[in-house]
Amino acid sequence: MSKLLLKGGRLIDPERRKEEIGDLLIVDGKIEQVGGSISPSDASVIDISGLIVAPGFIDMHVHLRQPGQEHKETIATGTTAAMRGGFTTVLAMANTSPPIDSPRIMREVVEIIRRDALVNVLQMGTITVGMRGKRNVDFEAMIEAGAAGFSEDGKSVMNSRLMLEALRASSEMEFLISDHCEDGNLSKGGLVNEGEVARRLGVRGISHLAEEVILARDLMLAEETKGRLHVAHVSTKRSVEMIREAKARGINVTAEVTPHHLTLTQKAVLEMGADAKMNPPLRDRGDVEALIEGLRDGTIDAIATDHAPHTPQEKSLSLEEAPFGVIGLETCFPVLYTELVLKGKLDLMDLIAALTINPARILGLERKGRLKKGADGELVLLDLNREMVIDPENFASKGRNTPFAGMKVKGVPMMVIIGDEIHTLLFPLSVVSMANCPPSTAQPSLERLTFQRSTF
Ligand code: DOR
Ligand code: ZN
Repeated sequence: MSKLLLKGGRLIDPERRKEEIGDLLIVDGKIEQVGGSISPSDASVIDISGLIVAPGFIDMHVHLRQPGQEHKETIATGTTAAMRGGFTTVLAMANTSPPIDSPRIMREVVEIIRRDALVNVLQMGTITVGMRGKRNVDFEAMIEAGAAGFSEDGKSVMNSRLMLEALRASSEMEFLISDHCEDGNLSKGGLVNEGEVARRLGVRGISHLAEEVILARDLMLAEETKGRLHVAHVSTKRSVEMIREAKARGINVTAEVTPHHLTLTQKAVLEMGADAKMNPPLRDRGDVEALIEGLRDGTIDAIATDHAPHTPQEKSLSLEEAPFGVIGLETCFPVLYTELVLKGKLDLMDLIAALTINPARILGLERKGRLKKGADGELVLLDLNREMVIDPENFASKGRNTPFAGMKVKGVPMMVIIGDEIHTLLFPLSVVSMANCPPSTAQPSLERLTFQRSTF
């Protein structure tokens, strides 16, 4: 029997929206007791006073690039990046090479996950065969092979009949569809948001309508079919309004927003170039404010990074040639704590809920994202006083494509616990202030930045 006792942490339970200073006991990988003073005789004890204890974060939108694009990321490197960011569960998209569109490929990926993943990985399948939009995959066989849900992420299913049938199947078989909303005819040739920055750069823009037209369609299809629609990376004000109205009408819809859409506008492209190029693009200040408001009032349920690694070579091409996408796993919490919580735009409780209990509910993970007896012993420990500068050279991800390079942030994941494993995260990012570090964690060398693991 393994027993781990965390002493004196600030326990945050996003399910009951409660916070207290106290102890937490994990027995054989499950949470046994939360709160108060606990003192079993035979437990391994870690004194964590000064640290936040939250359920391990859940990211419902990442790209791990396996199979076929291992030069961009692998399940091993992507899940190491996840752990560094405090994530204990991720949902991987299916736009790999080849796309994950058959039970055979799904089984292969599940096997790689079993072998290589450092955190829990749930794997999506595509909605259409080859992501070609001509016919739907065999949903039932894919689920049997291990699909956690379906998504055509990277583009939309433009054929409304196929989307209708997919949503009907999602209602009958009770699976989730994560919906990348983009009318490919409206967005074609666009590189950044349609507006001032596109004009200034003399490039084609992507209109907010490209997202909203498909969102409107899919909300109607979801209402008709009672399908389980989840809207991926919401980026516009009007989208937030449409989801708010849809929820009020009782449509079974949930939504996510990314850290970059919550904190940056299209202007970032002028400074960061292709490192701020992603799809959907960064929008206007008014959109950013509406997204934050949507998160605050529950219209948007989850924060998901859309971690989309590409090689430094690919991202150093011109704005036109570089692929869409930015990474986000290792910067998510520090960026959002600094930019939203410390600036008074979002409560810490709401931030943590959007990274834990809310995605757990959407994904039907009843024992994750919670801090209570019987839940999985998957936790993140955070130091809210620790400061650092984001340095992509220290990322565990193979990607370096972040718009947050050089940003000074506060609030760092320090430790991740998964079952009976304690993972010490020795700061992927260079440390500015050592004021709050215990002496044993002095300035880390690059070697020491590698992920460490100890089992008790
Ligand atoms: O920016 C993006 N990158 N948006 C997507 O929809 C796909 C993703 C990728 O796979 O690189
Ligand atoms: Zn994506």
